[in-house]
Amino acid sequence: MILNPLSNQVGGHDGVLSMGDDNEIIVKPALPQELKFYEESVLHAELAAWMPTYYGTLTLTRNQPGQAGDQSSTNGAPIIKALNGYVLSDMMAASTLDEEDAANAAAAAIAEPDVVADEAEDNGVNDDECICLENVSLGFKKPCVLDLKMGTQLYDDDASEEKKARLGAVAANTTTLPLGFRMTGFEVYDSEKDDFTKYSKHYGKGLTEDTVLDGFRAYFAAKLGPERMRLIIERFVNDLTDFLATIETQELRMRSSSLLMIYEGDAEAFDAGLSIEQEKIAAVVARAQAHMEKGAREDQEGDDEDDDNEEDEDDEDFEDYEEDDEEDGEVGQKVTDIRLIDFAHSTWTPGQGPDEGVVKGVKSALALFEKLLKEDYQIEA
Ligand SMILES: Nc1ncnc2c1ncn2[C@@H]1O[C@H](COP(=O)(O)OP(=O)(O)O)[C@@H](O)[C@H]1O
Ligand SMILES: [Mg+2]
Repeated sequence: MILNPLSNQVGGHDGVLSMGDDNEIIVKPALPQELKFYEESVLHAELAAWMPTYYGTLTLTRNQPGQAGDQSSTNGAPIIKALNGYVLSDMMAASTLDEEDAANAAAAAIAEPDVVADEAEDNGVNDDECICLENVSLGFKKPCVLDLKMGTQLYDDDASEEKKARLGAVAANTTTLPLGFRMTGFEVYDSEKDDFTKYSKHYGKGLTEDTVLDGFRAYFAAKLGPERMRLIIERFVNDLTDFLATIETQELRMRSSSLLMIYEGDAEAFDAGLSIEQEKIAAVVARAQAHMEKGAREDQEGDDEDDDNEEDEDDEDFEDYEEDDEEDGEVGQKVTDIRLIDFAHSTWTPGQGPDEGVVKGVKSALALFEKLLKEDYQIEA
C-alpha cells in the first residue's frame, strides 16, 4: 500500500487532504475540540454510526526546501513522520511517498474552508497533527456532494463577543437562523459535459427561506431522469427521518457541523449500486429463510443424529454470503450516503438535552425534501 498525501491545499491548516491508492482516507488538520469529539464518539455509538469511521491521528512534517533529507521535488508536500492510528499503522510500514502523485493530486474538499478554518489559528490548531477519517465519497463514481451546515448557532458558547456578533449576523442573514441549516457548498455531475457544476458557499449564503428549495433543485439536477432522482430524494427523506430520531436522543452541542449528503451522479453506476444493494438484501432474506426452515425442520425431527452435520453445512452457506458481500474489504458501488462531519466546534453535553437548533434544521430539510417530492414528483409523504 502506497500512501499519497495530496498536496494542493497543504499550505496551511485550512485544507482537507485525502490519501491512499483510492483516496481511502481523509486527513484533516486537527483542532483539539474536533479530535476530542472523535475520541469520545466511541462512547456514543448511536451518533458515531452517522459519522465517518475515525482511524486515529497522524503527524505530518512539511518538507522544507534545503532541509536535511529534503525531497525537494515534492514542493512542500507533507511527508509522513509519525503515525498513531489504528488501521493506518499497518499501511504505514509499507508506505513510500510517490512524489509525482503527491505533487499532482487534488484535494477532496468540495466546500471551501469555512468559518471553522478561518478560526483555526485562534483555536490553537497544531497544523501538523491530523485526524484520519473514512472518505465518505469512496464508492461513488461521480459523487454529487452537498455540505449542509446544521444548527441555528455557528459559534461556541465561550466565543468572543466579536465572534458571537459576527457569526450571529451570518446566521440571521442566511437560512441558518430561520431554518436551522444552510447549504454551504455542493457539486453536481453533468454527464453531457462530463464535468461537475460547482456551487460555492457564497451561493448558499445568498439563499433565503423563499429560495432555498431552488437551491435543493440545483443540487438534485444531475441528469439521471426523474425516476432515479425521486428515489434519491426518498432515500434521503428516510435517512433524515432516522437521523432525526437519533439526534433527538443525543446530548450534545454542534456548532458549524455539517451533514454531508452524497448521491451517485452517473446513471450506469447508480443502477449497478442498486443491483448490488438488491443482491445483498436477497442474500440476507435467503439466509433468514434458510435459518427459519432449518429451525422448523429441527422442531419436526427432534434430536436427530445428523444434527451436527446439518449445522456445518449451514455455516458454510453463511460464509459464502459473507465473502460475496465483503469482496476483500473493498467499498462497493454506493447509491446514496449521508454522514455528519466537521466537529471543530462540537461538544458532548451530558444532562443538557439535544441540540434544538440541529433538530430544527433536520426537520426543515425534511419538510423541504417532502415539498420537493410533492411539487416536482407528485409524491405525497
Ligand atoms: N470524511 C469525509 N469524507 C469525504 N469528504 C469529506 C470528509 N470530511 C470532509 N470532507 C469534505 O471536505 C470539506 C471540508 O471538511 P470540513 O470537515 O467541513 O472542514 P472545514 O473545517 O474546512 O469546514 C467538506 O465539505 C467535504 O466536502
Ligand atoms: Mg465544514
